[in-house]
Amino acid sequence: MKNRVLILDFGSQYTKLIARRIREIGVYCEIFPFNAKVEKIRKFDPGALVLSGGPSSVYAPRAPRISSEILQLNVPILGICYGMQLLAHLAGMRVTPAKEREFGLAHLSVCDESRLLQGVRTPTPVWMSHGDKIAQLPKDFHITATTDNTEMATIESDTRRMYGVQFHPEVVHTVAGRRILENFVLSISGLKADWNMGDFIQESIVRVRHRVGAGRIILGLSGGVDSTVLAMLLQKAVGERLIPVFVDTGLLRKNEFSDLMTRFRDGLGLKVHGIDASEIFLKRLKRVRSPERKRKIIGRTFIDVFSGIENTVGRVDFFAQGTLYPDVIESVSVNGPAAKIKSHHNVGGLPETLNWQLVEPFRELFKDEVRRIGRELGLEEAWIQRHPFPGPGLAVRIIGAVTRERVRRLQEADAILIRELHRRGIYNDIWQAFTVLLPIRSVGVMGDVRTYENVAVLRMVRSVDGMTADCYPADHEFLVATANQIVNEVKGINRVAYDLTSKPPGTIEWE
Ligand code: XMP
Repeated sequence: MKNRVLILDFGSQYTKLIARRIREIGVYCEIFPFNAKVEKIRKFDPGALVLSGGPSSVYAPRAPRISSEILQLNVPILGICYGMQLLAHLAGMRVTPAKEREFGLAHLSVCDESRLLQGVRTPTPVWMSHGDKIAQLPKDFHITATTDNTEMATIESDTRRMYGVQFHPEVVHTVAGRRILENFVLSISGLKADWNMGDFIQESIVRVRHRVGAGRIILGLSGGVDSTVLAMLLQKAVGERLIPVFVDTGLLRKNEFSDLMTRFRDGLGLKVHGIDASEIFLKRLKRVRSPERKRKIIGRTFIDVFSGIENTVGRVDFFAQGTLYPDVIESVSVNGPAAKIKSHHNVGGLPETLNWQLVEPFRELFKDEVRRIGRELGLEEAWIQRHPFPGPGLAVRIIGAVTRERVRRLQEADAILIRELHRRGIYNDIWQAFTVLLPIRSVGVMGDVRTYENVAVLRMVRSVDGMTADCYPADHEFLVATANQIVNEVKGINRVAYDLTSKPPGTIEWE
């Protein structure tokens, strides 16, 4: 039995968060789909098993199940939400629709001796999201905590080594969530907290070398932290056989292309191929207004630009991207429940015409984890702290049609905002700050003359992983000063507004 946890995924939006929390505790873990072969699971040889939540009802005919052999692996099992109901169902107990469905915050009270809730002071807030409940307590189990609506909020069986929680310990709203997972992983399962990001780096390097063999990898750099950290990692793994490419889409921040080319080459020693493709991107975006069409066109144009690359750099076998987990979950419907929000430019695979295989070592990670990897690899803090920048660039911040002139306008306004953040020393307090250019015009007066120009919006948010975000509580004087500078210095903008929306219900980018 190895010192690692296996999570079986039943389709919850939070499954990757469970993995992340367990990594934070310091124990290696992986996620397999719920229907992974028992042989594969035996080979992985986990020291503990977690059954995730999921959108199904266990009593539905096509509900995802697991074979009873998995229950006999003789390792502790934690069932979360659907996972808990599945444990009860497999023990022959009834699971029924709950009279009172429970979504959001509930208060958990411990009612019996509990190993899972050891050290948790109750009542404690927990995050619920379920419409079903267990109708009968399975044999050998006892109830260890309840909420107002759920009698069996936590059930435990030390003899069977099975534990179930109806709530989600992996989300931040469950205040004692970390403690509960620690109790399961460390004290109940007896695993050691000996895994860290350094191990992830070493494991990724070994995995990439094994996969790539003598092949060559092309990597699209965006100037953001994910692809930069990935470049450092891949350079360690395959050296000269990494071909980093930085495409000027014409949709980058002001002077970004030339500044970054210098910093890649001189600062990081990356032999980057720079490609100016701004003509073709802007041409294809002409008169396109729909956000999804913009994203699709940009995604396709990236592919087209990369398709021609072998003429310049020679044969390529792999294509690497710094895709992160939030990009994936919001772009594709994973196992049903995760609704598509927007098509992130780097998700969706490569067309078959490109004979390359994808390498995405960060696909399971969140941005703050990639930042930790970057620090381990010795990347300067200025790179690590760079605000995220979307692959489709300013196109998704220019509402309506994209033209060179409108790009210029936005670049100027954006540069003023970023300059002010640095000048005031608050750049690093903010997850992401940028300006958005609206297509509408408003009336103003400048030097006794009437103006009729565009509106720019300042967007500044705080976030941990980009999945949720809050408006940055910006200082009033700073907002006013920045707005004034933009209106005074940028021709074509005569009004500035501040976006107060959180995510959800908004998203960070406007398109
Ligand atoms: P949203 O707007 O979905 O953004 O709340 C969440 C985070 O993802 C970034 N983002 C992207 N990053 N390609 C990327 O690499 C994309 O297509 C893309 N779209 C949004 C966004 O800037 C924010 O940090």
